[in-house]
Amino acid sequence: MSTAAAVFTKTGDIMHMNELIIKKRNGEAHTKDELKYIIDNYVSGKIPDYQMSAWLMAVYFQGMTDVETADLTMIMAESGEQIDLSSIAGIKVDKHSTGGVGDKTTFIIASIVAACGVPVAKMSGRGLGHTGGTIDKLESIPHVNVALSKDEFLDIVKKVGVAVTGQSGNLAPADKLMYALRDVTGTVDSIPLIASSVMSKKLAAGSDAILLDVKVGSGAFMKTLDDAVRLAETMVAIGNHNGRQTVALITDMDRPLGQAIGNATEIAEVVQVLRGEGPADLIQESITLAANMLYLGGKGVYEDCVTMAKVTLASGRGFNKFVEMVTAQGGDASVLTDPSFAEAAYKKAVTAPKSGYITHMNAEACGRAALALGAGRYTKTDTIDYKAGIWMLKKTGDVVTEDEVIAYLQSSSKNTLAEGETRYLNALTIEDALPAKRPLVFARVTVEGTERYI
Ligand code: URA
Repeated sequence: MSTAAAVFTKTGDIMHMNELIIKKRNGEAHTKDELKYIIDNYVSGKIPDYQMSAWLMAVYFQGMTDVETADLTMIMAESGEQIDLSSIAGIKVDKHSTGGVGDKTTFIIASIVAACGVPVAKMSGRGLGHTGGTIDKLESIPHVNVALSKDEFLDIVKKVGVAVTGQSGNLAPADKLMYALRDVTGTVDSIPLIASSVMSKKLAAGSDAILLDVKVGSGAFMKTLDDAVRLAETMVAIGNHNGRQTVALITDMDRPLGQAIGNATEIAEVVQVLRGEGPADLIQESITLAANMLYLGGKGVYEDCVTMAKVTLASGRGFNKFVEMVTAQGGDASVLTDPSFAEAAYKKAVTAPKSGYITHMNAEACGRAALALGAGRYTKTDTIDYKAGIWMLKKTGDVVTEDEVIAYLQSSSKNTLAEGETRYLNALTIEDALPAKRPLVFARVTVEGTERYI
């Protein structure tokens, strides 16, 4: 590998990557030229993973100014192709979640929104840390193509109204490389790194409007509401500054969303919801997100958009749209109604160790239990067991009795079950008192300001 040439700063000084690492380690702000040097040379392979990892860790600890974050976002967005969606009629609305456990809303809301006539051209990512990835989940459907070419992607959005594909090789390649590196170097939960990662992709992906779902709580990268608001405000400012109407909802991730964690298991739960069943929290959050997307897509006042989302879901048109999309992407949609689709070779019932209320679920620990079962990756090259996952029968606020079955773990590998069970049980707190109810949506951030609901 050839090494990166030095960067000349505005004052004529020469810098090498090792000096830029030290600069950030010491808490100084980078210039735009320095950031461009780092990103361009990392993408071209001249800066090795070990130096990039050290720099990411320095950013993790020292942070970035708003100007550095905005510069980094634009450099990452411009590191590859920028998609032009102007050949698709209408207001194109994108959606992005900052990542959670059991978060499968993309499939539900994209199907509903597309069924209402708002085109959704969605590029999604793979699992990151303890959180699941939309593309990994979609890939659990046999034969589905998650690496659509640009023409295939545009074609399906035009014909079906919705397509979900992986980040194409040349869309924000800087993020693709950094995302995979951050996943395995403990550098995910940093506001400037998340904001630049999310917004570089969203800007390059070309939609007119963007809905951000910023998760907060034990299963999110943002653990406090203040941090989540700061991340949301940073991203909303970057989006609107670049001419994209951008709104963020801050939603609860202090417990997994819905009842399923995994890949095929989560797709099975998506199908439940789209066919009029499924858990109340997932349905309610999906309706709220879909209504916000419809609102951004110009479908009327917010209350009408809520009604439109509910009616579309109840009519089954969302489910039909999902089947159409899976089929158009080459997937075998017959599995969606096959009860054996999400079953794994090995299954284990988890029972309550004592009686009481589940007062807290550490959602990150629940995600790590699913990871231990095989549902995610520990290293960049790990392969996923698509059937691995968890079905949670009892969640925060539910009463349980000792020895009652509270969850089922499943995996294609028998020897993962013991670790999965220990991790899952350690994630739960069971106490005598009923915990206070939490709302699903804590705040809404727009360019006009932040509305907090708690
Ligand atoms: N989602 C992203 O796309 N990037 C992050 O860094 C975190 C969540």
